[in-house]
Amino acid sequence: MAKLKLGVLASGRGSNFEAILTAIQKGNLDAEIKVLVSNKKSAGALAIATQNGIPSVHLSFKAFALPNEYGSELIKVFSKYDVNFAVLAGYLKYLTPEFISNYQNKILNIHPALLPSFGGNGMFGNHVHVAVLKRGCKVSGATVHIVDEIYDHGPIILQKSVPVLDDDTEKTLAARVLKVEHEIFPKALQLFAENRVRLDGNRAIILER
Ligand code: GRF
Repeated sequence: MAKLKLGVLASGRGSNFEAILTAIQKGNLDAEIKVLVSNKKSAGALAIATQNGIPSVHLSFKAFALPNEYGSELIKVFSKYDVNFAVLAGYLKYLTPEFISNYQNKILNIHPALLPSFGGNGMFGNHVHVAVLKRGCKVSGATVHIVDEIYDHGPIILQKSVPVLDDDTEKTLAARVLKVEHEIFPKALQLFAENRVRLDGNRAIILER
């Protein structure tokens, strides 16, 4: 595909967004960030965009009567900035079917567990790590996957595991998982930049270089 022109959606701190930015700056990811959109005015991600001279837009969900209107506005913003690939970097809002079909197989999400375990509705942020600890898992990790219309369901691009230690709290586990998130998210995007992802149903095949 053509050069990745990224539109990043983030609701919070923005450390994944920053990791992607750093990978681009270091020459490890052949992509350009065209715009950062956040639904939260206080999001750290917005500040990171400003500090790095990346155009950013605050799009409050509450400003729209219907999710579809929000979705249409998002499409408008992305096309204004000439985005051809969407990245969900800690984005906590619903995406409309219209948005998803506009960027079919061109939306990546990062999930802080090894999907398909600990995914789906309600499984976000700390809830994931709490559930992993409660279940007594000995490993957890992070997953980068393509977004389709079912939460946390689309083809898996990359996963990396981390150990769960006996004395872990959700905080220590989250920190260990976050480290690998920062590693695999830019890597997964680079696979798309190199046109090395082929889909076979819900399975992504990664082509050798
Ligand atoms: C990450 O743990 C990500 O997996 C989840 O939300 C968190 C976002 O962190 N979806 P950050 O805003 O990228 O720092």
